Amino acid sequence: MLKPSNRTEARLLEQLDLERLPRHVAIIMDGNGRWAGRRHLPRVAGHRAGVQAARRIIESSARLGIEALTLYAFSVENWRRPHAEVDFLMRLLREYLHKELPVIHKNNIRLIVIGRGSQLPTEVRHDLDEAMKLTGANTGMKLVVALNYGGRAELVDAFNAILRSAEQSGGPLPTVDEQMISDHLYTAGLPDPDLLVRTSGEMRVSNFLLWQIAYAEIYVTETLWPDFQVASLIEALIEFQKRERRYGGLGPGRRSSKGQAAS
Ligand code: IPE
Ligand code: IPE
Ligand code: MG
Repeated sequence: MLKPSNRTEARLLEQLDLERLPRHVAIIMDGNGRWAGRRHLPRVAGHRAGVQAARRIIESSARLGIEALTLYAFSVENWRRPHAEVDFLMRLLREYLHKELPVIHKNNIRLIVIGRGSQLPTEVRHDLDEAMKLTGANTGMKLVVALNYGGRAELVDAFNAILRSAEQSGGPLPTVDEQMISDHLYTAGLPDPDLLVRTSGEMRVSNFLLWQIAYAEIYVTETLWPDFQVASLIEALIEFQKRERRYGGLGPGRRSSKGQAAS
């Protein structure tokens, strides 16, 4: 249960239907650099502030009862940034794990990392493996961290995994269907995101969960990630609840099958 910590949160929580929350929320945490720039601070100061935002959103999502939260932390394209920034981000991640893992574990959260882990620095990989082992049996919220993640890379890896297992089985080549692809993605076993949030106003998906967001509701806010508050999350959830999801049909209350035309 999420206890409001100020009047804005309390007012927003009243508008939220806790029975109709998205099962899976995915967030493109963007705008750390701009946040720092506006304060005449180095970009890395923005990343530090971004970690604080991640902490509060993880904790409040778990308290709200969201089943899965996926955070885009580092893309396969982010290696194009200056070495010093990449290095800082990797160190920040380890620092975050050392400090926050006990809290994550105590809150019954299960950590899952998705992306090409083999290309991450050894120490980072080691810490992530330990964290996933420690929290592996937790039954609360699944916290999915996308690290060295790319949606196209994920699809390439899935197709290659399908080919490999076909080869190993020695039988005829399988007929690929949607379920088979979903089952070979890094996110196998997770529901697809219902809500995709992007902060800092950019109208693009930047190679994030390309397959999984097929029918996600998209919410873009101008708020920069370090400024994203618990209230901002609740606002996004309220907006999600106003959307009418149609999945290509005509929506609730309208006849949409067996050739019956909608009025
Ligand atoms: C998002 O903030 C964090 C990462 C991509 C690691 P940015 O660093 O992209 O911030 P902007 O987009 O430059 O403001
Ligand atoms: C997306 O943000 C990746 C993460 C949030 C980790 P970017 O800042 O890297 O995306 P672009 O470059 O604006 O598309
Ligand atoms: Mg950015």
